[in-house]
Amino acid sequence: MISTKDLTKKFGDLTAVDHLSLSVKEGELLCLLGANGAGKSTTINMLLNFVAPTSGSATINGLDATRHPIKTKEFITYIPENLMLYPMLTAIENLDYFSGITGRQLAQSSLTGFLEEAGLQKDAFHKRISTFSKGMRQKVGIAIALAKDTKVLLLDEPTSGLDPKASNEFGNLLQKLRGKGVAILMATHDLFRAKVVATHIGIMKDGKLVQQFVADDISLPQLEKTYLETMNYKEVLS
Ligand SMILES: Nc1ncnc2c1ncn2[C@@H]1O[C@H](COP(=O)(O)OP(=O)(O)O)[C@@H](O)[C@H]1O
Ligand SMILES: [Mg+2]
Repeated sequence: MISTKDLTKKFGDLTAVDHLSLSVKEGELLCLLGANGAGKSTTINMLLNFVAPTSGSATINGLDATRHPIKTKEFITYIPENLMLYPMLTAIENLDYFSGITGRQLAQSSLTGFLEEAGLQKDAFHKRISTFSKGMRQKVGIAIALAKDTKVLLLDEPTSGLDPKASNEFGNLLQKLRGKGVAILMATHDLFRAKVVATHIGIMKDGKLVQQFVADDISLPQLEKTYLETMNYKEVLS
């Protein structure tokens, strides 16, 4: 479970995140939409304790992310736009390394099982990451989440730059993780993918959560219209 309460981050005079309260329960997927600079990444960075809150709290499975930075990270897998993997190591070696970091040592057969479950083609398991497309790297990220038996997945624009097929596959993997009870928070600009994969959708503006929906309650055209109105792009609608 992911939750924030009155979470606030100021950078000097700028309030990047402003009294943000949200919650993502097991098996839920909240998509955060919002223009560049709305505060989405700063929110995720506070949940990861990469950035300290000015006030308010960010908690993972009931533990404060600032006070328990190591314990909370055991529950989390973080997939940013460009996942940091070792380019000279193979998919298996990266998975072994990043799942081993948490103290679990996995057999080769388990590692290949997780890569398979993440949908990576078999002939890529022993290839260096430097030869991988972005979609393939994101699959290794999902395999890491599976191997860690992750409880919380934090995604920052994971599908930007993916082709429609890779984006669709990534969405299906998120549904699979959701089915296992993972709580997922995803910042994205992709309204379509948000509508397809999310259980809940929020729109951020100037650090605040200004709109919130249950994904099933809103159609894609309604979501787009609301998004544009929220951004004050009223002229586009004529
Ligand atoms: N380390 C930082 N120092 C100063 N300002 C920052 C820093 N990180 C983010 N900001 C500012 O905070 C605001 C929110 O940024 P960010 O969370 O990256 O938004 P988003 O991810 O929604 O595009 C922006 O105005 C950005 O310039
Ligand atoms: Mg961002």
